[in-house]
Amino acid sequence: MESYSQDTKNILGLQLVTDPRWVNLAAISLEDILTDHAWCEQKAATTCISLIQRYSDKALLVEKLSPIVSEEWSHFRMVIRELKKRNLPLGKQRKDIYVNKLIEFQKKGGSPEERFLDLLLTMALIEARSCERFKRLSEGLEDEYLRGFYRKFMESEAGHYTLFITLAEKYLPKDKVRKRWKDWIEYETELMQHMEVRGDRIH
Ligand SMILES: [Fe+2]
Ligand SMILES: [Fe+2]
Repeated sequence: MESYSQDTKNILGLQLVTDPRWVNLAAISLEDILTDHAWCEQKAATTCISLIQRYSDKALLVEKLSPIVSEEWSHFRMVIRELKKRNLPLGKQRKDIYVNKLIEFQKKGGSPEERFLDLLLTMALIEARSCERFKRLSEGLEDEYLRGFYRKFMESEAGHYTLFITLAEKYLPKDKVRKRWKDWIEYETELMQHMEVRGDRIH
């Protein structure tokens, strides 16, 4: 699965790097970051389960996403452990503006194929941006332990975003995937430019 096309490799990159102020804000509100992060992992696991339920006829998707469910759930548990160490409860799930805005961009009236592609690309984008945010935390936090903690997440999510693109390329023509991914990248760049920089959330 690692053999995604060179074209895809070239276009994976997000256009906008996170505002450097974000890590400093995140460090101040680490409790909120951990709570938000835990819920992000929960949503990643749940969404993979939904994809498996909805596309149970696609054997490769079922095969590749099943272990991701376990991995995301183990991430959820890792974050829960960090909260517990700090005597913090899980806390409430917030409204996820970033994800909601991405969902707004999904084609509602397109063909089943187009809807399938958008679901995969939405996941790819969330994984890519999460990976980028974890990278910021792994480099920018003062606490050495937490830098290492976030490095592990960064590596794991990097594998995920390429997986969703690879899956899209297995089921749909590569040029179609590439073209739509470009639209998504443009949309996300615009979205990030207009989002408030807040330290209490992963994105
Ligand atoms: Fe994860
Ligand atoms: Fe992930």
